[in-house]
Amino acid sequence: MSEETFTPALGRLAPARFFDYVVAMTRERLWRSLTVMHLAPRPGDAILDVGCGTGSLALLAARVEPQATVVGLDPDPEILAVARDKDTQDRVRWLTGMGDDLVASVGAESMDGVMSSLVLHQCPMDVKRAILASMFAVLRPGGRLVITDFGLQRTPLMRLAFRFVQFADGKTDTQPNADGVLPQLISAAGFTDVREADLVSTINGSISIYVARKR
Ligand SMILES: C[S@@+](CC[C@H](N)C(=O)[O-])C[C@H]1O[C@@H](n2cnc3c(N)ncnc32)[C@H](O)[C@@H]1O
Repeated sequence: MSEETFTPALGRLAPARFFDYVVAMTRERLWRSLTVMHLAPRPGDAILDVGCGTGSLALLAARVEPQATVVGLDPDPEILAVARDKDTQDRVRWLTGMGDDLVASVGAESMDGVMSSLVLHQCPMDVKRAILASMFAVLRPGGRLVITDFGLQRTPLMRLAFRFVQFADGKTDTQPNADGVLPQLISAAGFTDVREADLVSTINGSISIYVARKR
């Protein structure tokens, strides 16, 4: 899989450092809280946030369970610099790396929980598959996966709203998400008990929270 190319946080809209201002318009607090709730970090857990961006989700997980070890990984050094600045209490370990090569970054079967928000919709189909396979490889048996992203856009209003995301990130990578491909990709990567646990409607389309497990 490629090691060098990725779509930055705001696609072609604006530099990644402005991401927090844009994502705040997407009912961010709700879907981030639901994501961490479904991941349910426990004391002693190792938790990985793939494509952590400015670090908001990783920092929330570390606040919810201070006795968990939380790692935030992203290929973009510019956005990781924002994350490091926000982490004033050094709660999270920040790593530069690609989501399709997680074993190289954190080691095989080293994680109890893996989460990722708003990443897969920006990735080509082969990269979506490779990232999910890589997540499977770094989870321990019994490990939990939570994927929060634009998923099946069920209504004409949500399909219209999602056009903003498609303008920023292009249609080729985003349309499979809008057509509902994620659950089957998660299952194909080897995960079990795959389900859409929550759905949040936003001004940019609906965000699904998918949960799954590695047996
Ligand atoms: C829209 S931002 C979301 C950031 C963060 N997860 C959040 O919820 O705020 C997408 C992030 O995915 C990262 N990304 C893009 N391609 C990636 C890949 N192949 N592996 C890991 N991260 C990737 C980008 O650098 C960017 O920070």
